[in-house]
Amino acid sequence: MSARLRIAVQKSGRLADKSLDLLEAAGLHVVKGANDLLFRVENAPIDLLRVRDDDIPTFVADGVANLGIVGRNVLLERAKPEDGPCEIMALGFGRCDLKIAGPLGFAYDGPRSLQGLRVATTYPRQLSRFLRENDVEAEIVTMRGAVEVAPRLKLAHVICDLVSTGATLEANGLAAFETIARSEAVLIQSPQPLDPQFAPIVESVTQRFRGVTASRDAKYVMMNAPRAALPRISEILPGSDAPTVTPLAGREDYVAVHAVCQESVFWETLERLKAAGASAILVLPIEKMM
Ligand code: PRP
Ligand code: ZN
Repeated sequence: MSARLRIAVQKSGRLADKSLDLLEAAGLHVVKGANDLLFRVENAPIDLLRVRDDDIPTFVADGVANLGIVGRNVLLERAKPEDGPCEIMALGFGRCDLKIAGPLGFAYDGPRSLQGLRVATTYPRQLSRFLRENDVEAEIVTMRGAVEVAPRLKLAHVICDLVSTGATLEANGLAAFETIARSEAVLIQSPQPLDPQFAPIVESVTQRFRGVTASRDAKYVMMNAPRAALPRISEILPGSDAPTVTPLAGREDYVAVHAVCQESVFWETLERLKAAGASAILVLPIEKMM
């Protein structure tokens, strides 16, 4: 039996399903077998090591897994980042912010407001860096979870926690004051030497992930437009290279314009295109891109 590349993924939680979705979108068919710890990819020599997100950087650092999919926030909490895994690409999902938050009535007026207070968090490294950078001395109360209850239990005055939808803060009568870091899922690679037989697999996986993330926001936009409006239309199209322009049968002054837009195409974009003279505007999803 030949060796299989290992990718560490979160077993359950915020990133778990979306990590599997990414693999699937990259054409890697995951088989959920009887072994709960290892899922096999049936059409490539890859296994998924399913663990707690907090353990992923360590497994990847030690080479137990070659790659990992984890929140940047978890990666940044690692004890010794210099000899740890490195981020090879942002994956565009699982976005959330690390924020300072506190009771609704708290009068927050910048980092100095935290001077001398107790701040509860599961992210002590990022919090202490923020405090240091702002020259604030505060006591960090490190918790394993349920940080949002700390103010009510008088364990801390304020908290520093991840916020995604904001529902957790709201449910606990807390308000966010400040964002100290932004996070999303990232692909990380082990600092351990890679077995040469794995190199092409890592290359292929990263290429495909890039293709998937690039095509997620990307749209194929088509429209008809007066030839004279072309410069204006190219300006409006978000994140696109030179569009393809083809003549329209029987219309001297009109052309068909096709473009790949790398950024979100909003209704507002369509309205502006229309105002610039475009008609029959179509926005199509892109399935694959390389
Ligand atoms: C984070 C954070 C909050 C919640 C915020 O926990 O600690 O509890 O998400 O999300 P919301 O703004 O959408 O309500 P996470 O899901 O990362 O779980 P973990 O702390 O167990 O890793
Ligand atoms: Zn976690």
